[in-house]
Amino acid sequence: MGVAACDGHTVSVGVFDSGYGGLTILKGLREALPELDYLYLGDNARAPYGSRSFDVVYEFTRQAVFRLFDEGCPLVILACNTASAKALRSIQQKDLPTSQDPSRRVLGVIRPTVEAVPSITRSGHIGVLATPGTIASHSYHMEIAKTDPGIEVVEVACPLWVPLVENREADGPGADYFVRKYLDQLLGADPEIDTVVLGCTHYPLLYAKIREYLPGHIRILSQGGLVGESLACYLRRHPEMAGRLSHGGTCRYMTTENTEKFDTLATLFTGCPAHSTHIEL
Ligand code: DGL
Repeated sequence: MGVAACDGHTVSVGVFDSGYGGLTILKGLREALPELDYLYLGDNARAPYGSRSFDVVYEFTRQAVFRLFDEGCPLVILACNTASAKALRSIQQKDLPTSQDPSRRVLGVIRPTVEAVPSITRSGHIGVLATPGTIASHSYHMEIAKTDPGIEVVEVACPLWVPLVENREADGPGADYFVRKYLDQLLGADPEIDTVVLGCTHYPLLYAKIREYLPGHIRILSQGGLVGESLACYLRRHPEMAGRLSHGGTCRYMTTENTEKFDTLATLFTGCPAHSTHIEL
């Protein structure tokens, strides 16, 4: 049971992404748990994270998580695959235990996505599409192996898909070339793939083109719904955390970039108007 937010004091779930992409995850969270309050932080000024080094992604993510803690969020979701791949473990194991309040929690998006894989694949051959950083970390491969070591995983980095989405070219004819390029690479590496994981927050915005070029029998897993269901399950298992969160159904946005730009793109990602506040990290 959460607390009502009627006195205007909200205790939100913090949702962090390098930029806009995490809004696809936020949508899934709000569909699964519409009663909760959310505070979204996009580090748009320093995005994309996808081709940054491990140390830089860890440091930027750590700053953002502690900013969300300072805003009163006891639970932060890393809605960014690159941050989940490169920073989550260090934050959970190094930073949280020595922080002011070690009962705060940080969760990522890779584990909830991977948990769905074994029940979906029939051939046991999976494709993972993600940023160069996520692919280089092999986080998906390792997590899938923990869930079912018999599953074959082919990982392909798609460095041009994020810029296509950010530049609003996802529906344009130029996108077809780059969508086909990486899908051909994936299917060329393993023709038995029957399930493809979209392991990057931006890729749901390319869904129509990905669907068009993938053979019809291949299932495509987008993360938003899976992460939403996983958080609902987590809060049922952790009533002490559920009880700390307020129930006002609100959503606030913070960005490290220009707010007008954020609000325009946030509307594209969520389909709802957004009014953000500028912050520095
Ligand atoms: N949010 C990132 C991810 O899911 C994509 C954008 C970026 O590279 O920062 O990996």
